[in-house]
Order: sequence, then C-alpha cells, then structure tokens
Amino acid sequence: MEPVNVAIIYYSSTGTVHALAQAVAEGAEKAGARVRLRRVAETAPPEAVDSNPAWARHLQDAAEIAEAGLDDLDWADATLFGSPTRFGNPSSQLRAFIDTTSPLWQEGRLADKVYSAFTASGTAHGGQESTILALANTFYHWGGIIVPPGYTDPVQFQTGNPYGTSHVAGEGPPGEVVLRAAHHQGRRVVEVAAALKAGRAA
Ligand SMILES: Cc1cc2nc3c(=O)[nH]c(=O)nc-3n(C[C@H](O)[C@H](O)[C@H](O)COP(=O)(O)O)c2cc1C
Repeated sequence: MEPVNVAIIYYSSTGTVHALAQAVAEGAEKAGARVRLRRVAETAPPEAVDSNPAWARHLQDAAEIAEAGLDDLDWADATLFGSPTRFGNPSSQLRAFIDTTSPLWQEGRLADKVYSAFTASGTAHGGQESTILALANTFYHWGGIIVPPGYTDPVQFQTGNPYGTSHVAGEGPPGEVVLRAAHHQGRRVVEVAAALKAGRAA
C-alpha cells in the first residue's frame, strides 16, 4: 500500500514549536509516512520581529523550511498543526493560514482526513489545552477525524497532556521526555491514518 502522507504545519516565533514540529516529523517518518514539514508565513511587521533577538534569529534559522500552502493540506492524509499559545489561543500567523483554506473546505477536500495539534506556552497553566481545543474547532468544521495522543503510550503519563504534545517554554527548550511525546504523537497519527487508508482501499 502507498505510504501515508503527513503534513506538519506550524508557526514558531522563538523555536520551541519548531523543535516540537521536527520531533513530530521524525516520529511520523519512522512510522513509515511521507512527511512535509512546513512553516506558515510570518505576518508580523519587521520592527516587531526585530524587537526580540530570539524571534529575529529563529526567523532567519528557519528560512530554509518551505512555507505551507494549500497543496500541502490537499496532499496530506493527516495533518498536525503546531502553534505557540497566544492568550490561550493559536497564533494569528497560523490562523491566517487556516483562514485561507475555504476553497478546499468548500470542495470537501479537508474532510475525512486525520488532524492533531501540539503547542507550547510560556507557563504551565497558560492555556495549552485551550489552544489545542481551539484548533480542534476548525477540525470539526472540516469534518476531520481528530486523533489526540490521549494516554496511549507510557510517555503520556510523564508529560501529562492527552490533548496534544505541549511544552512550557519558560522552563527552557523541550527536553527528552516531551520530544518522545512528540514522536509518539507523530507515530500515532500515522498509524490511525494508515488504518483508514487501508480500509478505504480494501
Ligand atoms: C502575544 C503573546 C501571547 C502569549 N500568550 C501566552 C499565554 O496565554 N499563555 C502562556 O503561557 N504563554 C503565552 N505566551 C508565551 C508563548 O506561548 C511562548 O513564548 C511560546 O510558546 C514559545 O513558543 P515559540 O518558541 O515556538 O515561539 C504569549 C506570548 C506572546 C508573544
């Protein structure tokens, strides 16, 4: 059978969600998927970016990663979205990309596919779940099949977020445990998407 196509579409200002996205991509690749890692366009004005050296540096470092397009969503059997938590919600940059998807949605081309989400926040109770659930509102509109990590791997009991991989950026870069959780989320999404693909092909 054809491998599963997985798109990982994310936004990151200072590199935390980027690190999670890379780990999700590794997990999906190891599970046998064809993977597209895609960042959404930066929409903030240059003066805002330049006011934060870590933001300006990450924007430069991530320049070689291709920008997400509608063709990535169309191609994918499964898409994982990653965003920093912004006042308990996904970032405007990721929302701006999502708001371009109406043509695909209108044709029903986002339906019946697998979706999942991950995030980072500055603080432990800063709204990780609300960000992931806010992204899920869109997956409902698309008629998506939402695949959360739940407690389907021992690492989930260590990181403790069944909604999606999450990291507290205020505690430093993602460590080994959260990166393992990201691998698991990528792998699980591939496994469910592969089962659906095989069932439809049968
Ligand atoms: C406008 C703005 C709003 C934010 N809102 C929250 C928030 O509601 N809760 C929180 O814990 N952190 C908040 N943060 C911190 C970010 O979530 C944190 O910097 C981000 O997860 C780091 O991810 P990145 O390195 O991928 O950009 C906010 C940051 C900005 C700039």
